[in-house]
Amino acid sequence: MASVEDTLLNKPWSPADRKYYRIADKSLKLSAAFWFLAAVIGQWIFVYYVAVHYGGTALQGDWAAWSAGGPQGIIPGDSLGNFSMAMHVFLAIIVVFGGPLQLIPQLRTRFPTFHRWNGRIFVFGAFAISLFGLYMIMTRGSVGAPIQHLGTSLGGVLIIIFGVIAVRHAMRRNIAVHRQWAMRLFMLVNAVWFFRIGLMAWIILNNGPAGFDMETFTGPFLVFLSFGQYLVPLAVLELYFRTQKSTSTAARFAMSGIVVVLTLIMGVGIFGATMGMWLPRIT
Ligand code: HEM
Repeated sequence: MASVEDTLLNKPWSPADRKYYRIADKSLKLSAAFWFLAAVIGQWIFVYYVAVHYGGTALQGDWAAWSAGGPQGIIPGDSLGNFSMAMHVFLAIIVVFGGPLQLIPQLRTRFPTFHRWNGRIFVFGAFAISLFGLYMIMTRGSVGAPIQHLGTSLGGVLIIIFGVIAVRHAMRRNIAVHRQWAMRLFMLVNAVWFFRIGLMAWIILNNGPAGFDMETFTGPFLVFLSFGQYLVPLAVLELYFRTQKSTSTAARFAMSGIVVVLTLIMGVGIFGATMGMWLPRIT
């Protein structure tokens, strides 16, 4: 990707046009930083909840509390299913905590060994979470309708495919392409987090549940969210990549606006999930 000054070098633009391009580029970068900051805060609140809720109740031997995040939890006699559930939540803590650290440029350049090891843990942790998740869905099922399970399962399969592609580009030292696939993988791994905050933002903005049934946890909105939890973030990320490549000032301003609006909606969802879903289970 060409730097701002490289791009301007080849443009027969007036000084005013150059100035607007620089401002647009700055606003695109700032909007991405704003999104990243909000995402890290929200993801680490989720990590805190998972560690305190599952870790804390496990230490007290209160296994019944594990069914709070889904009806299955710990089922007497189902050793492999219970092991999958325990590994699933344990790896969720590691992967969701470590993921954002991979995207911080200063950490990447100053601590390359950390980046490499944290990256390996992230990718193989994500593979294992997906395999344990797929096993649980197949053997125990989950809340909602089969089409919703299909959406979540497809996300798990995509994590494995995208992870392989990201690692192969890193091994071949195709760093620019590796970065893009790693960011796509980041969105996929956080799909379950997007699901939770997307659901809470939707409920808050609609003043209550809309387009789905709270009792059965089914309905058109939840079918959309089961696929949208990764397809929407991936689509926005592609749009962002295209904007970075283009040399249009207007596209940069438009994309910054989209990212800021989506971050504000994300903030509503993070607030809703923290207050309505996570805090009540750990306080
Ligand atoms: C890779 C990212 C993933 C993370 C970080 C993650 C995280 C979690 C967490 C924290 C829980 C506990 C529920 C809660 O307290 O909110 C959970 C439950 C669960 N997850 Fe995942 N998960 C991921 C991917 C998957 C995938 C790909 C599948 C299926 C293919 C899956 C299937 C399940 C199931 C079946 C449960 C049990 C909920 C129930 O009983 O219905 N997860 N996951």
